[in-house]
Amino acid sequence: MTLTPSTEHEKPDDFNLPEQKFDITRHLKSSNLPPGTRQTHRFDTWVHRKELVEAVKATRRFLSPRAKHHFLTLAGECGCGKTHLAIAAAWDNLEATGLTTCYWQTAALMHYLRGLYDKDRHPAQPAIDVELGWLCKCSLLVLDDLGTEASTEWTTSILDQIVDTRYINCRKTIFTTNATPQNLPRRVVDRMMEGTVITIAAKSYRRLNKDKEVQPHEPS
Ligand SMILES: Nc1ncnc2c1ncn2[C@@H]1O[C@H](COP(=O)(O)OP(=O)(O)O)[C@@H](O)[C@H]1O
Ligand SMILES: [Mg+2]
Repeated sequence: MTLTPSTEHEKPDDFNLPEQKFDITRHLKSSNLPPGTRQTHRFDTWVHRKELVEAVKATRRFLSPRAKHHFLTLAGECGCGKTHLAIAAAWDNLEATGLTTCYWQTAALMHYLRGLYDKDRHPAQPAIDVELGWLCKCSLLVLDDLGTEASTEWTTSILDQIVDTRYINCRKTIFTTNATPQNLPRRVVDRMMEGTVITIAAKSYRRLNKDKEVQPHEPS
């Protein structure tokens, strides 16, 4: 996963109208989705596991007009499939609707934004403002592995700004985490809790797969 993708200054000019459809080819770059996952991390490559039926249903419903709330949290142990589902949702959102979509592993995002912030000490046109505008307004943002970022005053304030702006504007946001609420930024958790929270109780798919206990595909 790249820490500093070529997204800088490549946002669609009119991204402040997030419901507008964009040229997907151009938008692929700014989505920050790892290109290889376009084949691997999809709903149709997902292997049915009964412990995750609710998580899959909730993620699909979240993408539809029947979504109960604009925030979805997938919580659970390492390897259970949180990132797979979140990325599958992001690809579907991007391909099926052409809507602006952005994926970030949270620690990598904080690292990337910090780099922009440092560069912006004497800015002509602050790159960080462009990036924050994008993160706040795109139609779907995935913040993967929330809680793995270093917890500093700066990261807490930036995350709060992104999450609160998206919350107020009802922008769809998916969080994945294996941290306990006590170990996440308090104001962010408060907003996450209002949305749909799915706690996955399943062991790592990697280990499951190794043990050859995987069942056939989920019936549609
Ligand atoms: N039900 C599933 N079907 C197919 N692949 C899966 C499934 N669950 C997990 N994986 C795969 O297992 C690996 C670990 O899953 P991942 O989503 O990264 O876990 P997490 O984010 O919960 O730590 C990834 O390669 C993912 O694509
Ligand atoms: Mg993950």
